[in-house]
This record gives sequence, structure tokens and C-alpha cells, in this order.
Amino acid sequence: MQELAKGIRRKGRSIGFVPTMGALHQGHLSLIRKARRENDFVVASIFVNPAQFGPGEDFKRYPRVLRHDAYLCKGAGADVIFYPAAKDIYPDNYQTYVLVEDLSGVLCGKFRPGHFRGVATVVAKLFNIVQPDTAYFGQKDAQQAIIIRKMAQDLHIPLRIKVMPTAREKDGLAMSSRNAYLDKSQRRDAAVLYRALKLSRDLIRQGKRNSKEIIRRMRQLISQKKNCRVQYISIVDLENLKPVAEI
Ligand code: PAJ
Repeated sequence: MQELAKGIRRKGRSIGFVPTMGALHQGHLSLIRKARRENDFVVASIFVNPAQFGPGEDFKRYPRVLRHDAYLCKGAGADVIFYPAAKDIYPDNYQTYVLVEDLSGVLCGKFRPGHFRGVATVVAKLFNIVQPDTAYFGQKDAQQAIIIRKMAQDLHIPLRIKVMPTAREKDGLAMSSRNAYLDKSQRRDAAVLYRALKLSRDLIRQGKRNSKEIIRRMRQLISQKKNCRVQYISIVDLENLKPVAEI
């Protein structure tokens, strides 16, 4: 992959890159299509990165459907799928990790210790292997996108990062490979997340500025679903991910 990338860049052609863990859906494909429109050569990677899964998490059962993914990638305009083996990315006695310190310990990072260290590490490695001019990420994983942007800046990695809007199902639920874990009734209830986001947007449009009040209203809406439990709701500054009291 590195040799291929070098050859392409030597010819002055631009490389667009979309890193994924596979089980592709329209959210991933919208990133690949965007990369296709903006670059001469498009690389998608598929790698279920063990370093970003915690001990009790779903690494083993994460969906792996390479053949179907390959078909979808091709349709969306990818030129190459980079599909490394875990032992090539993390050989025996692997030692080096990337930690974006403050941003990784807040929000989802509090509930998934080590997760963003695993993400930053693999994405830094993928950037060095694929050598893209531009890499594309989804706004759905907002904290991830912010951490990767900071990592690339701090490490002087010479590329541009673009963050693209969230692709959603008809009822507003963000598309996600993990939606496949939901049964029918959970899937139905999950749309309440989007309704809560819209509620907050509407409240802000009406002039509400107090974060606590907005969060209370969102919590109230979500708790009407008796099988939903809120892990956290936060309204934060996009630079440092610190809570803001007044919007
Ligand atoms: P994965 O969950 O497969 O997502 C790959 C990319 O697709 C991420 O940038 C993610 O934000 C984006 N994406 C996922 N769902 C989306 C949606 N509904 N709309 C728009 N974009 C969406 O995120 C990861 O993999 C991994 O952490 C990775 C960055 C590949 C590192 O291992």
C-alpha cells in the first residue's frame, strides 16, 4: 500500500482516504463518494482495530462481511481497499501508541477507557501507510473526528481532514454498523435519540441558551421510552470538548 501510494503521489495525483471497520452502509459510502468527487485516487480501508475495543466490548462479534463491502466500495468509486491483517498492524512486541491527552478522557472516553488511544493510534498508522492528501470522517462520531484533527495537527501529518454530515435512516436514526445488534423494538425506540437532538435544536432556535435546561428536556423525552437509559448528554465547546453552561 505504501509503495502504491508513493507511486501515485509521484505522478502528482491526489489520494483521498476513507478509513472504516467495514460492514459498510450509506454513511460510509457517502464518504467514499465524496472522496471520489474530490480526488484522482480513492482508498478505503477496512480494519476492525483490536486496539480500540475494550475488554467487555464487541470485537469478536463485530460484523465482518468483506465480499459485500468490496462490492459496495467499488460501486461508490473506491480504487483500492486496504485490508490489512491484525498481525501486520500490530506485530508481536508492538510498542507505540498515540494519545491525544485531554480530548480522549471526556464524553465517550469516560465510558470506554483506551478507546480513543486505539483510534488515534490506528488512524496515525493508516495515514502513514496510505499517505492521503485528504481523509474523510463522519460527524456522527464527533469526538473521534475532533481527536483525529488534533492528532494530525499535533503530529504535523501533512493532510487535510474533512468531516461530513451524518447519514440517517428514514426515522432519523444515524446509520451505524452496530444498529444490526438491535432487535425490532430496540430499533424502534432508538429513533428517540434523533428526536431528542431535534428537540434541542428547536429549543435553541426558540432562544433557549441554558445547557442544563436543554439537557433536562432531552433526558425527559428519552426517558419516556422505558427501555432507554441515558449514559450522558453533554453540550460542549467543539475546540476542547469542555461543557458550556450557556450556549
Ligand atoms: P466506522 O465506525 O466503520 O466508521 C468509519 C467512518 O464512517 C467514520 O469516519 C465514521 O464517522 C463514518 N460514519 C459512520 N456512520 C456514519 C453515518 N451514519 N454518516 C456519516 N458517516 C458515518 O469510525 C471508525 O470506523 C473507526 O473508529 C476508524 C476511524 C476506522 C478507526 O478504526
